[in-house]
Amino acid sequence: MSVTRGFPESFLFGAAVSAHQVEGGNTNSDWWWWEHIESTPGREPSGDACDFYHRYREDIALLAGVGLNAFRFSIEWARIEPAEGEFSRAALEHYRRVLMACRDHAVLPIVTFHHFTLPRWLQDTGGFASDRFPALFERYCDRAAAALGDLIGIACTINEPQGLGSSGYLLGINPPGHTDDRDGAQRAVDNLLEAHKVGAAAIRSRAQIPVGVTLAIPDIQYEDGAQPGLSSLEVESRVNDWFMELARKDEFIGVQTYTRFRIGPDGPRSPGHDWSDTTRELLETEQTTQMGYEYYPQALGGAIRRAARSCPGLPILVTENGIATADDERRIAFMETALREVQACLAEGIDVRSYVYWSWLDNFEWAFGYAPTFGLVGVDRQTFARHPKPSAAWLGAVARSRALV
Ligand code: BGC
Repeated sequence: MSVTRGFPESFLFGAAVSAHQVEGGNTNSDWWWWEHIESTPGREPSGDACDFYHRYREDIALLAGVGLNAFRFSIEWARIEPAEGEFSRAALEHYRRVLMACRDHAVLPIVTFHHFTLPRWLQDTGGFASDRFPALFERYCDRAAAALGDLIGIACTINEPQGLGSSGYLLGINPPGHTDDRDGAQRAVDNLLEAHKVGAAAIRSRAQIPVGVTLAIPDIQYEDGAQPGLSSLEVESRVNDWFMELARKDEFIGVQTYTRFRIGPDGPRSPGHDWSDTTRELLETEQTTQMGYEYYPQALGGAIRRAARSCPGLPILVTENGIATADDERRIAFMETALREVQACLAEGIDVRSYVYWSWLDNFEWAFGYAPTFGLVGVDRQTFARHPKPSAAWLGAVARSRALV
């Protein structure tokens, strides 16, 4: 006999993208510059990405058509403030149109103000490590929220800030590409913490909407005999503690997870834990995904519970969860197990309010280029035609019935 378990009436089911990964032609950003330097670890440039900048209407209609009721996307600082202090009314107007397209389809827009990329001018003057970063972010949030706030449903300040110090200043896999720059990493983390605080306040002063931060929270599991250490994983986890402390004053916390990482007596031992290795072969196996991570959808439960322990009573939004795979049946199985974890957390009394799959489209996976395919929808790299996969219809059906059968 099949068992049907439901999700609350107001539960949000959605999918996510970020500007640089899908819009295309983001030429004024630090990532564009970085992608075009021979010696950086990127495998290929983002180029036209998925041409979402021009095709957003089609994507949002498709997403609503399958039955999803939330869409998470980011607005691009490099377009909105192309030169310091110079704000583009045309870029803000563009994002109003994207937001209107969501509203026209009764899709709740979840908007991320910063998803990894910086305007090039800001990277040139010190980026996250610059003392001016928090104030510049505050002004950008203020201007963007003043122009867009009435249409935004939920606002996320900074995506995965816990990793930005280590990836850009310790591991060298993101701009500015420093390695072992502890001082730079520490300044970046301090500035990002302050930026979240002042950015969130600026957004709240312009719009009455829930504001929070979205954190990558892998399910870290210590095995017998393991000693907590200083792997990048554990450093990021410590930084997460600081962001979670701040998050207690927010309206929600965003939880994002893809796998678990096991730490044994000799340190981290799960596949894919070494994020500095961007040259690794992207070989999907029975145990691993295309990213080289362990296939472990149960990680979502661990991540939600960790956030719930750190921020008791705070609403939790799952703002990203997904798998890079060439096998769409496997994607469906992954989501099903992850959603059962969400149900278990709900049954334990944790206030989980959304499941947003990463990603809506097969898109630009940063240093790994276009090889990993996370999307519910495939994208023809020549014509940009959208090819919805069975997993899109599957998640849409769960959303419509608000149940897993
Ligand atoms: C990021 C996305 C990324 C995804 C898959 C998340 O950490 O927010 O930008 O594409 O993971 O790796």
